[in-house]
Amino acid sequence: MNKQLLKETIKQLFTDGKGLLAMDESTGTCNKRFAEAGIPQTVEMRRSYRELIVTTPNLHESIGGAILYDETIRQQTKAGIPIIDVLIKAGIILGIKVDMGAKPMAGFPNEKVTEGLDGLRDRLVEYKKMGVRFAKWRAVIAIGNDIPTTACIKANMHALSRYAALCQEVDIVPIVEPEVLMDGNHTLQQCYDITEKVLKILFYQLYQFRIDLEGIILKPNMVIAGTENTKQNSIDKVAEATVNCLLASVPAAVPAIAFLSGGQSPAVAATHLNAINKNFKDKLPWIVSFSFARAIQQPVLEIWKGQEANVEEAQKILYRRAKYAVAAKCGKYNAVMEQSVV
Ligand code: 13P
Repeated sequence: MNKQLLKETIKQLFTDGKGLLAMDESTGTCNKRFAEAGIPQTVEMRRSYRELIVTTPNLHESIGGAILYDETIRQQTKAGIPIIDVLIKAGIILGIKVDMGAKPMAGFPNEKVTEGLDGLRDRLVEYKKMGVRFAKWRAVIAIGNDIPTTACIKANMHALSRYAALCQEVDIVPIVEPEVLMDGNHTLQQCYDITEKVLKILFYQLYQFRIDLEGIILKPNMVIAGTENTKQNSIDKVAEATVNCLLASVPAAVPAIAFLSGGQSPAVAATHLNAINKNFKDKLPWIVSFSFARAIQQPVLEIWKGQEANVEEAQKILYRRAKYAVAAKCGKYNAVMEQSVV
């Protein structure tokens, strides 16, 4: 393991306030989002969509690294240029989702465990040859009646730790993503308690597996009430709970935290990230940035609709959403920006 190289990659990913773009939806998830937007669910549509993203002019101003899916990393633009070459040329660092998805956990109804460790060492070697410098593995923890169980949390954090070890073995920075889902009617306090427990178990496991904490990126959820709970908390309260939860459970040795958006609208996710960075500027020992998928891409899909004629407009909104995310990372985002026309 080259610790210096891992550190250098992380520094470059988040330089000048930049963040990460998660464009790594699996085929199933991408098709689901396409179906909702009325877009045909074909390989060619997924290719065109990913081409739209990576060819967005000046995306590198806001995006330091893009997380790809295996299908995309092997695809080309219509002009025959490999997608990865487009990104590298733009100065955007290549990342890859390497987990094989969250599958039902045997014996534990309504809980999931993420698969993908078998053969991972070889896959990482192949990706590294392609130029990949960071990876992602997502564990999913649901809150509900009597869940999550400690067994489910431990199984998932164990897998995340083994994945992280395999990444660091080949100098690929692991994004460690333990996502506590927003689905459900739980309170903010319940989300806080579960997120804290998950993170504490995660960092104990990472320690046991000899992970270099200075060579990982943590990708957590924000601490927020469930989407079905009618009592939603203020922006400042979510920011405060999120920061307190992270301070209680994430070692200062971790260089960067990059939030997932989890189903929050683009404006709400940006507002929360902004409050976290603005209100707690002097308290955060880590870079606190973003690794959004939906909170950057949702409006892009709605404008594109699978039509060539809409590509330029869709790229404009992508560029804008990424800029707003950077503004939020710097504590300089405000709702008035939403009215600006590019
Ligand atoms: P969302 O921002 O849509 O939650 O996606 C982030 C992600 O990459 C989940 O793994």
